[in-house]
Amino acid sequence: MAERILVAVAWPYVNGLPHLGHIAGNVLPADIFARYHRLAGNDVLMVSGSDMHGTPTMLAARQQGISTLELVERYHNAFAEMNRQMGFAFDLYTHTDTDNHHAVSQGMFTRLLENGYLVEGVQSMPFCLVEGRFLSDRFVEGICPHCEFDGARGDQCDNCGNTVDPSELGNIRCKEDGSPPEFRDTTHFFLRLSAFQDRLTEWISGKDDWRPNVRNFTMGILREGLKDRSITRDIDWGIKIPVEGFEDKRIYVWFEAVIGYFSASIEWAANSGDPDAWKAWWEEEDARAFYFQGKDNIPFHTIIWPAMLMGHGGLNLAEDVAANEFLTLEGRPLSTSTGWAVWVPDYLERYDPDPLRYYLASIMPETSDSDFTWGGFLLANNNELVATFGNLVHRVLTLTTRNFDNAVPESGELGPDEIAALEACDTALADVAKHLEARNFRDGLRSVMVLAQHGNRYIDARAPWKQVKEDRDAAATTLWTALNIVETLRTVSYPYLPYSTQTLHELLGHEGDVLAGGWQRITPEAGTALPDPTPIFKKLDDSIVEEEAERLAAASAR
Ligand code: MF3
Ligand code: ZN
Repeated sequence: MAERILVAVAWPYVNGLPHLGHIAGNVLPADIFARYHRLAGNDVLMVSGSDMHGTPTMLAARQQGISTLELVERYHNAFAEMNRQMGFAFDLYTHTDTDNHHAVSQGMFTRLLENGYLVEGVQSMPFCLVEGRFLSDRFVEGICPHCEFDGARGDQCDNCGNTVDPSELGNIRCKEDGSPPEFRDTTHFFLRLSAFQDRLTEWISGKDDWRPNVRNFTMGILREGLKDRSITRDIDWGIKIPVEGFEDKRIYVWFEAVIGYFSASIEWAANSGDPDAWKAWWEEEDARAFYFQGKDNIPFHTIIWPAMLMGHGGLNLAEDVAANEFLTLEGRPLSTSTGWAVWVPDYLERYDPDPLRYYLASIMPETSDSDFTWGGFLLANNNELVATFGNLVHRVLTLTTRNFDNAVPESGELGPDEIAALEACDTALADVAKHLEARNFRDGLRSVMVLAQHGNRYIDARAPWKQVKEDRDAAATTLWTALNIVETLRTVSYPYLPYSTQTLHELLGHEGDVLAGGWQRITPEAGTALPDPTPIFKKLDDSIVEEEAERLAAASAR
């Protein structure tokens, strides 16, 4: 029976253009996972959107001298367009400033309030005497109480990933004018995280298959003991608090952004014409939810959002929170502010999406940070995609179309090598499925390439270009067998390479799209007409490594 799979992708702050860091750890693994499950016949709902509120977008708008609304619209469009061009196949990519999201967030707030999990409290918060306003979250900086990094912000430390309270920051100062703020009392709502200590501990302790980094980090927070956290702010950009007397305050961006997974599912259902359709993923117990995000997002997805869901009641918790480590670029952290980044829209002006999907999947920062280099990109494209995968496909299709009249030949009796080749197809289908189900994307890609290598070795050993001259029937059997491998390569690499596999699908004489075929070995049918083949990957010139190094140096020097 088809399983229901919710693929929940972290909502990027739209305070700049999308860069490699945005895709390597979140949306690319999510998209590969979703495509695999769709091809395997499961019912996937993949949602996300732009995170528009909070201090990250407010700060960026101030820096650029434009209104926050103008800023978030500009970058939301850039993210949405990037998703389209990279083949990230969301069922819905929305944003947090929709009427629906405002309403669903306020509904969740009210429900938690009624259930006794939100309480009012007085908090001492930094107040900037220069600007005459409270400074929340990213408007203050200081020394992290956990790791002593001097540059932690009022909500979180980027160095160690811990969440922080402004009162805990050493040498606290206003981000905008550097002045030391004064602490003043202000009234806010608090999420009673302490009430969920035991339930969360029990829930996490059953998650033996989670990545160790996610599990250990979360266990560490739980061991320290959960503290109640304020979930409203003294700012004027964001979602209004549905309680009288709080007109000048807004809901904390993280409290409502995580609700986005839920509100987006509701919005998708409304668009689909069946407003209750979201329930199959959120209320039915056998549906499974998978969350994809970077490691700095862990506490929000393993503590805060599950606590909110428990407090609401009746909604499914995560099956897995597959947090990734960080991607670096040529050995240095990617950074929007210093310009040390490869912007995806810029990349797409020069190269195709699939080589980037391939290379990033091959170095995906699953268990440790990993480094993107242009030299590595060039090698992955030229040596693996072109010389291994593309070469096999092109040899098989060229030999077949030229010698067998643009049609799949009839196979004779299969020998041991042919049987081994078909077995290699079945092994690849099983291995890639196993790795993808376990969210091991690098291993999955390795299993894809094992099949391509098997295919090349088989063709080299059989040499069908010689066979056609000596024994046409033997050549037919070889090429039919090799076509099995190519068919299977198309299937198992589809989650990683949606564009190239669609082209390949057509080169194999099929109509429609890859999805229709399912996750199975498709046997080439003798007589199927094959078009003249064209290469599915392009070799890149070595000179791009230097060109890109210069581009990076120029952009980061600006
Ligand atoms: N906007 C956050 C970031 O870029 C991620 C939010 S993920 C969600 O780090 F859970 F809130 F959706
Ligand atoms: Zn820290």
